[in-house]
Amino acid sequence: MLDTRVTKCRVPSEVEKVPRLYFMTLASNKKERPLALVTGASSGIGVELSRELARDGHDVILVARRENPMRDLATKLAAFGVNATVVAANLGVINAASCLVAELHERGLDVPDVLVNNAGFGDYREFSEAEPTKLAEMIQLNVTTLTELTRFLLPGMLARRRGRILFVGALAGFVPGPGAAVYHATKAYVVSLGEALADELHGTGVTVTTLCPGPTESGFDIAAGLDPDAGEARRRFMTARRVAQSAYQAMMQGHSLEVPGVINRLPAAWARLAARMLVKAAIGTNR
Ligand SMILES: NC(=O)c1ccc[n+]([C@@H]2O[C@H](COP(=O)([O-])OP(=O)(O)OC[C@H]3O[C@@H](n4cnc5c(N)ncnc54)[C@H](OP(=O)(O)O)[C@@H]3O)[C@@H](O)[C@H]2O)c1
Repeated sequence: MLDTRVTKCRVPSEVEKVPRLYFMTLASNKKERPLALVTGASSGIGVELSRELARDGHDVILVARRENPMRDLATKLAAFGVNATVVAANLGVINAASCLVAELHERGLDVPDVLVNNAGFGDYREFSEAEPTKLAEMIQLNVTTLTELTRFLLPGMLARRRGRILFVGALAGFVPGPGAAVYHATKAYVVSLGEALADELHGTGVTVTTLCPGPTESGFDIAAGLDPDAGEARRRFMTARRVAQSAYQAMMQGHSLEVPGVINRLPAAWARLAARMLVKAAIGTNR
């Protein structure tokens, strides 16, 4: 059930272009830079992915609701000699993707060379106690906006025969998750869509990489209703920077799936193998 009060598209009241303050000469000597769009760029993994992209010479469009942290980040990224554009937008509402794309078009920002679908959140409580509006917002953000944004921007990438798309899924996407059932289900969707698109786009010049991090230090736990100091706190193995670095490498190399950290790879591989064996047994195939 959707809260109709939030279905109105609340996209960017303000779009700010941060000038290349410090490296004007260096930047103007450079060839045209590739453009990257990062959702969820106000915190955690999105901040670190934006940093990786800027360090590697991409102009970046930063999208999330909180404007101030993105402004601070944009100013820091300008030190790499790139342009950073801040878009304050709620992507958890109906039509958020189409509003964002329309807004970018109006501002003359081209189809990005890199699309990072990172914005997302979880909700750790029993399904029967979860707030329906929060679940609807989660599905809208983690599933619908990610799907629509990709669908809107993909044709431009295909026309150029060039593009990198990153889906931020989760290790949670490999298994059902009692206690966070809808979050796990949204991430299972992301993993499934990402892997299917990677296959579908083979040979087109556009690649899709699905990143599946395990517990990572970021703002995620607080947003998900977990108290980091309580017994329910999850063990976090990796920093957001480390996750972003391996995601960036995998995306640029066109890998279809990236599970950062050895400690996460093992359960991911086992979950997939076990699922495959069970499905094979159910449908009676030996292949
Ligand atoms: N941390 C982990 O343990 C972990 C593990 C596996 C997967 N992941 C995934 O990694 C991704 C990034 O999360 P994180 O760990 O970096 O957590 P985070 O620090 O909480 O970052 C989440 C980002 O999503 C943005 N966001 C949330 N709701 C939004 C909305 N309605 N509209 C626009 N942006 C919104 C937030 O910005 P605003 O609040 O400013 O809007 C923030 O920039 C998520 O998809 C998450 O599911 C995280």
